[in-house]
Amino acid sequence: MSRVVYLTTPIYYINAAPHLGHACTTIFADAMARWRRLAGDDVFFLTGTDEHGDKIAQAAAKAGVTPRALADANSAAFREAWRQLGITNDDFIRTTEPRHAAVVQQILQTLYDAGEIYLGTYGGHYCYGCERFYTEKEIVEGACPDHRTPLAWIEEQNYFFRMSKYQEWLVGLIHERPDLIRPERYRNEILGFLRDPLHDLSISRPRTRLEWGIPLPFDDRYVTYVWFDALINYVSALGPLDGARHRKYWPHVEHLIGKDILKPHAVYWPCMLKAAGLEVFQRLNVHGYWGLGGGKMSKSVGNVVEALALKDTYGNDAFRYFVMREMVFGLDADFSEEAFVGRLNADLANDLGNLVSRATTMIVNFGGGRVPAAGVSAGSATADAWRKALADATAAMEEFAFHRALAAVWEFLGVVNRYIDTTAPWQLAKSPERRSELDAVLFTLAQALHGLGIVLAPFLPEAASKLRAALGQAGVPTLADAAWGRLAPGTTVAKLPALFPRVERATGATPSSNRPPTARGEHASPATTGQTPLVTMADFGKLDLRVAKVIAAERVPKSKRLLKVRVALGTEERTLVAGIAEHYAPEALVGRSVVIVANLEPATLMGIESQGMILAGSVEGTLAVLTPERDLPPGAKVT
Ligand code: MSP
Repeated sequence: MSRVVYLTTPIYYINAAPHLGHACTTIFADAMARWRRLAGDDVFFLTGTDEHGDKIAQAAAKAGVTPRALADANSAAFREAWRQLGITNDDFIRTTEPRHAAVVQQILQTLYDAGEIYLGTYGGHYCYGCERFYTEKEIVEGACPDHRTPLAWIEEQNYFFRMSKYQEWLVGLIHERPDLIRPERYRNEILGFLRDPLHDLSISRPRTRLEWGIPLPFDDRYVTYVWFDALINYVSALGPLDGARHRKYWPHVEHLIGKDILKPHAVYWPCMLKAAGLEVFQRLNVHGYWGLGGGKMSKSVGNVVEALALKDTYGNDAFRYFVMREMVFGLDADFSEEAFVGRLNADLANDLGNLVSRATTMIVNFGGGRVPAAGVSAGSATADAWRKALADATAAMEEFAFHRALAAVWEFLGVVNRYIDTTAPWQLAKSPERRSELDAVLFTLAQALHGLGIVLAPFLPEAASKLRAALGQAGVPTLADAAWGRLAPGTTVAKLPALFPRVERATGATPSSNRPPTARGEHASPATTGQTPLVTMADFGKLDLRVAKVIAAERVPKSKRLLKVRVALGTEERTLVAGIAEHYAPEALVGRSVVIVANLEPATLMGIESQGMILAGSVEGTLAVLTPERDLPPGAKVT
């Protein structure tokens, strides 16, 4: 059944050029918008720019231009980046547009009239860089925790929103709607934050200090605080609050944000909506942060990955794929060009590109370039694998788990690649009496490619449309068309040899100074001997070691060494791939408590994503997994 979906990205500050982080959120949103449209939904997809505040005013003054001129130029850079990345947003909102200011002022006036806003005095440690006050608790050695610069003590009269009175209501709402904030770790983080008293929110800045903002409608000596201004973009983009577009889309809003702006979205925003008499958003979907070489990407360090550099070097689809496959939605990920090239070669050139090339070539060479009329039962193993991939990808997309949706499709690619190896159509083609067997195989391959050409479209739009063109398909497909067997016998098929050419090595399209070495895949490796460098407590503290309970274990097919292990970790379950099959029978592990590294970057081993590592000691061929000496609940931290 078709649904209405309103999907938003954060509106980006225009003081930085679009980089990997901005592109990541925008690509996630774009893939989701495309997926929902494919499913037949009525989608409205919004992105935009956040243009008020000190930083812009200061940068404009420095450049000798007006804030508006700077805002126009920098906002255009975002719009252009998204155009080049093929982003299919339906609207682009700027906080400097009159349509936005009108709604901000309307909401402020409503809240003021209802007594939700009052004038008070505020004194605090202020960072001009962050445009915000810091509490005593947050300050690091007297300085801003982010910029490391001294803070200024500012005391001034400001308007406050009575946010504190919504604390109990908000906690109740989060309990009532378990998927309001997801993944769960962020819901827990907010519930933890709400255990302390919630304060009223200062929502104005005196114009004497800051001119570049939206004036308060009831006191023009003040402008609106940037967050109060920015969050309202999600509403203002839909036009008047009593208009048709608002009524249609607002009840279906899904926000997508990075974890850095969790608090304003999960705390301020629902309270603001409630006070203004507007419905609270349906869900807040939160992804983690991209780092570089284990550290933060930052303009000042000069290691920012430009949004367009990778796309220019490797192509748009490869960039999209890497972002969505490498980052486990909700967790942080580390960027390296080596990992990017690794995925491009293994997943796109090998698994997908080779399959498409082999299958289309065989249909052309052995089948005369047409889908044979073969009576293959819909119950074939490949058809079953396709149905499973479709169901798994659909379920994953419901949770914004883009990495899992792609993993499900890639599992299917593995099935089809093995199907070709075992059926060996080139052998069948040698014996005319085996024609019907050959036709059955070619028919199956054509159906597999047809399904892939549809389901991959939201993720790899260019490759998917090439694939559909090679199968003689025109027009806009729907997810229902991806059902097995929908490609009609007799359809012409053309060879598609180089969907994703292999790349020999990283070109250095991204900053190299912080490029980390890629050490992927080796789990439960034996202890090293000899000199190892000393680590600090801070280094050690980066590891998240946890007690986990094994709930299932099985051998990884075709591997001597690997076990696939499912563990419970308190609030969640994980799948781990461990190199311990030569030392433990799977059934001997079930029920045991083990210790795992819970924040290890996921790695794919034999097609299975390992979401952590089981700790084990080993000496001369004897290996033992670590086990807590007393009973501890799953999830207990190991320090
Ligand atoms: N203007 C505010 C948001 C207002 S929304 C009502 C803002 N802008 S921002 O330009 O700083 O963008 C922050 C967002 O960009 C993050 O929430 C995330 O979506 C994306 N990212 C920026 N850097 C990122 C990474 N290093 N990694 C992943 N995403 C990141 O905050």
